[in-house]
Amino acid sequence: MKHLLVIGIGAGNPDYITMQAVKALNRVDVFFLMDKGKSKQALIDLRREICERYITDHTYRFVEAVSPERERGEGDYTASVDALNRARQQTFERLINEQLYDGQCGGFLVWGDPALYDSTLRILQAIQAAGRCEFDYEVIPGISSVQALAAQHKIPLNTIGRSVEITTGRRLAAGQSGEADSIVVMLDAEDSYQQVADRDTEIYWGAYLGTPDEILISGRLADVAEEIEHVRKAARAEHGWIMDIYLLRKP
Ligand SMILES: C[S@@+](CC[C@H](N)C(=O)[O-])C[C@H]1O[C@@H](n2cnc3c(N)ncnc32)[C@H](O)[C@@H]1O
Repeated sequence: MKHLLVIGIGAGNPDYITMQAVKALNRVDVFFLMDKGKSKQALIDLRREICERYITDHTYRFVEAVSPERERGEGDYTASVDALNRARQQTFERLINEQLYDGQCGGFLVWGDPALYDSTLRILQAIQAAGRCEFDYEVIPGISSVQALAAQHKIPLNTIGRSVEITTGRRLAAGQSGEADSIVVMLDAEDSYQQVADRDTEIYWGAYLGTPDEILISGRLADVAEEIEHVRKAARAEHGWIMDIYLLRKP
C-alpha cells in the first residue's frame, strides 16, 4: 500500500511548522511540488527550505509537476473550479502511480492548513472514489493565514460570544456574506472591501504574512481603504503576485 501525508506547512513563516509536521516530513520519501508558474516560485522555494531545515534523518526526493491553472473569465466560477480539480486529479493520479512505489510515503506540502480553501483533500478523496490508484493518507494540520493574520495584528477573531465568518472576496463583493459581525476575507483579487457600505467598519489587513515582505494596515475603512488599495497595487507590481487577507469588524 502507498501512503500519503498531506502536511500543513503554515502560511509563510518556516517557524509556523508544528512538531507533528516535522515528524511527518521525516517520514516522506517523495515530495510532490506543484508548480504554479513563475510568480509562485517563492512558495516552491519555501517548501524546499522547510525540507532542508527540518528533515534530519531521512533521504527524500522532490518531484515537480506543473499544476493546471483555472480558466479565468466571465464563465461560471464553480464550473471552472470543478474543471480545474478534474485536471489536478489527473496530475495527482499520474504522480502517485508513476513516482511512488508500494510501501513508500508521498508528501504534499500544503500552504497554511489543508482544511481551508485548498483542494488537495477533495482531490485525494475523488481519486480514491474513482478507484484508479490505491493509497491511504493522513492529514497534518498547519497554521492558517487566518491565524497568522490575527496573531500579527494581536487581535482575537471574534467579539465576545459572537460568530466569525470566513469567506472570499468574490462573495463579499456580491453581497453574499452572512450575519456575522466579524468576517475574514480571503482570495480577494478585486479590493472587495471597497464595496462595504458602512465605512465605520474596521479592517485588519495583512499581505505576505509571516514572510520578510509582510505588510500590515488597520483602521476604519473610511480612513485606510484608499491606503490599502494603493499599497496593495504597488506591492503586487513589485513582487509580481500578492497574497493578502483581512478581517472586517462591523461597528
Ligand atoms: C488558496 S488559499 C489557501 C489558504 C491556506 N490553506 C491557509 O490555510 O491559509 C490562498 C489565500 O490564503 C490567504 N493567504 C495565504 N497565505 C497568506 C499569507 N502569508 N499572507 C496573506 N494571505 C495569505 C490569501 O487570502 C490567499 O488568497
